Amino acid sequence: MKKTIIANWKMQLGFKDSQMLIKELKQKIKKTSSEIVICPDYLSLSSASSVFKGTNFNLGAQDCAIKASGALTGEVSPVSLKEIGIRYVIIGHWERRTVLGENSELINAKIKSALAAKLIPILCIGENLAEREAGLAKKVLLGQIKAALQGINIKVSSNLVIAYEPIWAIGTGESIIPFEANTIHTFIKNEVNKVLGKNIRVVYGGSVNSSNSFEFLKQKNVDGLLVGGASLNVKEFSSIVNN
Ligand code: PGA
Repeated sequence: MKKTIIANWKMQLGFKDSQMLIKELKQKIKKTSSEIVICPDYLSLSSASSVFKGTNFNLGAQDCAIKASGALTGEVSPVSLKEIGIRYVIIGHWERRTVLGENSELINAKIKSALAAKLIPILCIGENLAEREAGLAKKVLLGQIKAALQGINIKVSSNLVIAYEPIWAIGTGESIIPFEANTIHTFIKNEVNKVLGKNIRVVYGGSVNSSNSFEFLKQKNVDGLLVGGASLNVKEFSSIVNN
């Protein structure tokens, strides 16, 4: 199966820089053996959709609203995202959980609204350092899986992706050992299978770069990567998608 490589640009680039990076990516990355998903901010999604039309690049949003339409000032509907050609949507990234206070009910509602709009949610889960050191990682992950997937059904396994992102590894330059990621991914896949009856993709995120990506992608149960900082550099990102 093709590995899925997701670029999460967060809010790191201004509008002009995003436009430049979109064009550069299209120019520099022609053929890859992986599925690529670029997630710029909302403002750049529409132009990225035009630029990437007819290429191998897929687009993802970094969030979406809890419903298709209504009085929700400042929110963006998953239906509108679908209309402009967006395929994926990141949900429950830890920066949204922690900095913006998103709780598990909200995350669950967003997954439901994304699925209803036929977007593929990329659900982010992960433990923090204290939880890891206390040996609670699996318990925390299980709690996050159960809360996020409550009442959810998917028709085919490709309709949902889980991103395992240990919080202590995000943006720190310190990633998990690839073999350990594989063990945790196996655990996540088994637990999700119990809930949904499907063998979904699990990608790894947290300080991925061109020096460690190969080792991660070699692991059987690492179905891809969610790349933050290293996805902002075309050279770095193209070597990740091409290895
Ligand atoms: P990082 O970010 O690759 O910069 O650690 C990953 C993420 O937050 O998705």
